[in-house]
Amino acid sequence: MANLLIKNCLMADGQSSDILIKNGIIKDISKNISATDTPKIDANHHFVTPPFVDSHFHMDATLSYGLPRVNESGTLLEGIALWGELKPKLTVDAIKDRARRFCKWAIARGTLAIRSHVDVSGDNLLGVEALIDIREEMKEFIDIQLVAFPQDGLLRANCLENLVSALDMGVDVVGGIPHFERTMADGAESIKILCEIAEKRGLLVDLHCDETDDPISRHVETLAYETLRLGLNGRVAGSHLTSMHSFDNYYFTKLISLLVEADLHIIANPLINITIQGRQDAYPKRRGLTRIPEQINAGLKVAFGHDCVMDPWYPLGSHDMLEVAHMALHCCHLTGVEQMRSCYESVTTKAAEILHLEKYGIYPGAKGDLVILQCKDPIEALRLKPARLFVIRKGKIISSTPPVEYKLFMGETIEKEDLLFKNSS
Ligand code: FE2
Repeated sequence: MANLLIKNCLMADGQSSDILIKNGIIKDISKNISATDTPKIDANHHFVTPPFVDSHFHMDATLSYGLPRVNESGTLLEGIALWGELKPKLTVDAIKDRARRFCKWAIARGTLAIRSHVDVSGDNLLGVEALIDIREEMKEFIDIQLVAFPQDGLLRANCLENLVSALDMGVDVVGGIPHFERTMADGAESIKILCEIAEKRGLLVDLHCDETDDPISRHVETLAYETLRLGLNGRVAGSHLTSMHSFDNYYFTKLISLLVEADLHIIANPLINITIQGRQDAYPKRRGLTRIPEQINAGLKVAFGHDCVMDPWYPLGSHDMLEVAHMALHCCHLTGVEQMRSCYESVTTKAAEILHLEKYGIYPGAKGDLVILQCKDPIEALRLKPARLFVIRKGKIISSTPPVEYKLFMGETIEKEDLLFKNSS
């Protein structure tokens, strides 16, 4: 819990302000604050934002790329098979080493909250053990929320007992994978069981749901129905939901009102699903992302997750949530001004709401968690994916990067360029 005065912050509304953090909490936001007894930095009229929030990740698998081999086909199914090959070789220490390194990458990129699924299928709960330790070890720097995720299927792999044990050990959220159960009926049954567990324990729900191109994979309908039946409105998220891309339009217009009624949260994973979906299509190939513009227009909360960084499913990534939003913006034709701003909110404020984070944002009384970006606003942040000049956690600087400046040797003198856009009216 530290004190910090940040001068010359460019706020989301385009106005300049100072921000004073006292004992880790934002105390004042106004012009010309002076606090002689407080450490001070200058934002130098750069954009100050709440930290990025990753609403969907797999920290138990991250940074395992190439172990024991790479995913040559690039498919979801080979990724799942590959993870099955790696799992017996995992140790708690190895998972922790990779997760710890990954958290440092995330923090350097300005992400200070992550919801990570953790696999609870198999003979042991090493991943759960490791990530609970990492959650505790890193809590001073980053909020980690864990989801009990039966990767091999709740009923198909008989891992209900493991899932309950993981929750008893302190995992925060109930996960599932209905489209991977053996039958549609088993998928629906798994949703019912999982939502009832969440309702009894007062937990949030976040299921991998309909991550397929199959247009008749409609588990999201059951998820919304169970949400309503159990009064879990606003507490349940459907992750991926890619089959919705291929739904019949008439069916979709009926479904969307059910999703609104249940206040079902949507978590799309654009980097991963643009690479995984449409693999079996001839041309034209479907993009396969869930129907993000329609969900936003319907008033649903939509967040974007990174999902993977260098693991059996995805060979790339450095955990940059701006890269995630940038991909969604392109794949879903979200280039209008308000649409671009909405994409930014999907990796900040909307994601924070879905994770039920407390005191998130920039207002007096909020946690002093802020990121200063080398740009002027959210849209320029999406365009440039700029340097995170300072990452601040509860008033303490926990990461910094020097401003990027390109030097051009093209004439008599050295020119400098920062790629920031200046209107020349
Ligand atoms: Fe996932």
